[in-house]
Amino acid sequence: MSARTYAIRTYGCQMNEHDSERLAGLLEADGLVPAASEDDADVVVLNTCCIRENADNKLYGKLGHLKSKKDARPGLEIIVSGCLAQKDRDLIQQRAGHVDVVVGTHNVHRAVELLHAARDGGRPVIEIWDEALDDAESFPSALAVKREVDFSAWLTIQVGCDNTCAYCIVPAVRGKEISRPFGELVAEVERLAADGVIEVTLLGQNVNSYGRDLTTSLRTDAASPLDAATAGAVWAADPARRARPLFADLLGAVASVEGIHRVRYTSPHPKDLRPETIAAMADHPAVCNHLHLPLQAGSDATLAAMHRGYTAERYLEKLVAARAGIPDLAVTTDIIVGFPGETDADFEATLEVVAAAEYDSAYTFIFSPREGTEAAVALEAEPGRAVDSAVVGERFERLRVVVERSALAKHRERIGRIEEVVVEGPSKRDASVLTGRTTQNKLVHFASDRPLRAGTLATTRVLDAGPHFLRGELVEVLATPRHRTRIPVAAG
Ligand code: 5AD
Ligand code: SF4
Repeated sequence: MSARTYAIRTYGCQMNEHDSERLAGLLEADGLVPAASEDDADVVVLNTCCIRENADNKLYGKLGHLKSKKDARPGLEIIVSGCLAQKDRDLIQQRAGHVDVVVGTHNVHRAVELLHAARDGGRPVIEIWDEALDDAESFPSALAVKREVDFSAWLTIQVGCDNTCAYCIVPAVRGKEISRPFGELVAEVERLAADGVIEVTLLGQNVNSYGRDLTTSLRTDAASPLDAATAGAVWAADPARRARPLFADLLGAVASVEGIHRVRYTSPHPKDLRPETIAAMADHPAVCNHLHLPLQAGSDATLAAMHRGYTAERYLEKLVAARAGIPDLAVTTDIIVGFPGETDADFEATLEVVAAAEYDSAYTFIFSPREGTEAAVALEAEPGRAVDSAVVGERFERLRVVVERSALAKHRERIGRIEEVVVEGPSKRDASVLTGRTTQNKLVHFASDRPLRAGTLATTRVLDAGPHFLRGELVEVLATPRHRTRIPVAAG
């Protein structure tokens, strides 16, 4: 009998993509193989997101479609996971009785066990935890996942968020901030490097507050001796260590692991961006020259209403400090248009700050009220604060123009330069062209006289630039990939 197959559809952010890798690892450890297409998969996973849009409608539409497929092919099994599952728990089950498993954000590692339970019991299983029970459950090893690409790995260093941004549902669906122990993270990066990984991306909702909750377990006084197992040998052996590690310490330790050529991270909160982080970025060549610093809005009134904890001026000061400390730094951001009560003057302020910040690129979003958030509740009480959708559309377009202007200028500055890239594979648009990524996180589409495997390190000459990418040609191959094809194992 041929192996059963699975397909995973991922909505939303990198945290979700990483969770999907974990789900794939679990399913493969259970003997499943990836389906050629979602249409003929035996197990379909919908890993949902509810951060920015009404994922609900999309999900229920998709589930309706899967229902007719399941009627025709009863062996089809459906798992719904992710933030929407965490938030809507029973609703999914009420509205879609053909779903086999609903699993939340804190117990992703249970998905396959739950699938077996549903199969054995002949009925759907919903299991949502309010919080992770321990660190091992919050942070299953990155080694146990089926990585999307072999040369690069995501590493969740922290889950949850202790901030209270008025528009944001993350604290409600991902819970309070928990940092993964320092030593464990460094040890894991060492194992990933041994496995041939050359690039790691540290993930967290608010990476700069990494370690805040590790304080007690890292105290060195006699009453609470340093726990080397938690702190890790690197930290324990460092005589100059702080009472608790800062994000900067982690960045430095990860960037010092032999074989790790690039370290990225996302996202820091501007209010918590410390000089130590800038110094660690400058001091460690492996840390990429890219800072993603979400602005959200440029008007102080909007920023205050959002509870962002900084003013536009303070934000720009941090940016100046980062650019002064880190040569050739690319800066990107997130911006929300149409936050309730945003006036023309507020929006003009955003355009001014965006122009002054000279971003390399920006993710721009239209405000969407997320159920239960402060902004959504306030909007229900005072619907007049909603910004007219035609006005939002115009603002969104004007913002795009300002962002693209600085992006294009930044990219044009790079014409004629030699840029190091990690090859990602053939270009999506033209298979005769390869795509690589620079330390600044820019895509370079380049002609090559030979095929190069994903993970190859090469230099390219930049010949042309657009607002979203560079074009170039291969100069030299620096290193070929070291990674082996791995057999995934189940998360422990
Ligand atoms: N509406 C629009 N955009 C949002 N984001 C988060 N919540 C919302 C919302 N309710 C955006 C922010 C954040 C990014 C991950 O998503 O810009 O930085
Ligand atoms: Fe949401 Fe703000 Fe936390 Fe980011 S920092 S996850 S925007 S609450």
